[in-house]
Amino acid sequence: MQNPPVPARRSLLKVLAAAPAVSALGGLATAAPAHAAPTPAAPASGPLATPGLLSAPGIVKALPSEHFTVRGTNAEARFDAFGDTGALTPADRFFVRNHTSTPVLDAADWRLTLWGDGLHGRGPVHFTYGQLRDLPSVTRTALIECAGNGRSLYASQQGEPVTGTAWTLGAVGAARWRGVRLADVLRRAGIARDAVDLLPRGLDDPYVSGGIDYGRVRRPLPVAKAFDDVILAYEMNGEPLPYDHGHPVRLVVPSWVGIASIKWLGDIEVSTRPLSSPWSTDWYRLFGAAHPAGGSAPISRQTLKSAYQLPFGATLESGRVHRLTGRAWSALAPVRSVEVSTDGGAHWRRAHLHDTPRRDGWVRWSVPWRPRSTGPVTLLSRTTDTAGNTQPERAVHNTQGYLFNAVVRHPVTVV
Ligand code: MTE
Repeated sequence: MQNPPVPARRSLLKVLAAAPAVSALGGLATAAPAHAAPTPAAPASGPLATPGLLSAPGIVKALPSEHFTVRGTNAEARFDAFGDTGALTPADRFFVRNHTSTPVLDAADWRLTLWGDGLHGRGPVHFTYGQLRDLPSVTRTALIECAGNGRSLYASQQGEPVTGTAWTLGAVGAARWRGVRLADVLRRAGIARDAVDLLPRGLDDPYVSGGIDYGRVRRPLPVAKAFDDVILAYEMNGEPLPYDHGHPVRLVVPSWVGIASIKWLGDIEVSTRPLSSPWSTDWYRLFGAAHPAGGSAPISRQTLKSAYQLPFGATLESGRVHRLTGRAWSALAPVRSVEVSTDGGAHWRRAHLHDTPRRDGWVRWSVPWRPRSTGPVTLLSRTTDTAGNTQPERAVHNTQGYLFNAVVRHPVTVV
């Protein structure tokens, strides 16, 4: 069995102390699994200030400044630098959204507990890491995108104030996830026919803001979605899940807002009654003039977007042909087309798509452009999906800046 690195982190002890004890095996074979507990890449170490490396409190992996922008406890991937990545985002380039900090957990000590009145036996059911690995596995590509991705554009592009992390466009990534169907685990745990809601909860520290302790990150997930396509992932792009992305096991909830994909999963309440948490009442709902008083229903599906892989304010030479590249994605249906405008929206033409559009993935696109005159130019791109959704000119404002879907006005200068 491999020895995991010794993490010099206070949170490890705290988290391990809080891990539930093993008990009933909930219909699983009781033979001890022979899996070695996997170890993700070792936590970054070395001098605190390494040139070119950013530091974000609580994030374990290295954050080179050419690939990330740090925003509080989070690291945004630089979308303009995605040009050298493929259809899958490498783990070391994937954005990190942490409410608190990454707990460095040991798969060998980890347990998942299911409990609540929505289980036949009522008593808690535990699964070890090895028991999960012994269940049939599934592999699928899915994007994880923060509900607030693009949030800063409400202010910069629409002049509308919003609260929350000021993401530009890099709070999104695509990966190939391998794990176990949540449906299989729920059946083995003895889910009752009348169970309606789950409440998956992470093992990271409780989230405290403005002096209020909101408890551990948790958000209700309807049983219907859980049985549809949710997986308990233990691999990302063929490697053990990295610490920052939920090691040893996280939920992957395809096409839903990123908060649904709970990392460092510790337990799941299974309930015959609808459940709630601050992540479904105070946040991740739409508030504001365009929405019902008291807010919308909790948001679930992501929206659609497209973006250029080019820094805002990039300088391009006139008279030369430039290959402009970008990505387009929709959580609502496969992408049908991407149109671009290189004159602020007066004329549009179709971009060339380099991937077969699928649900839950993104499509890389490109278009040649030879600017003829110098000066400032606004580049635009617009995704339309096969369900007929098109990026609008303006996103509908909500006070917390979720689900930005408008055509992005991308400024460049031709010299
Ligand atoms: N799960 C836990 N336990 N703690 C968190 O802070 N953040 C959520 C979700 N799962 C979070 C979590 C949010 S808001 C997002 S967008 C995704 O994780 C981000 O996943 P990533 O950090 O792997 O990119």
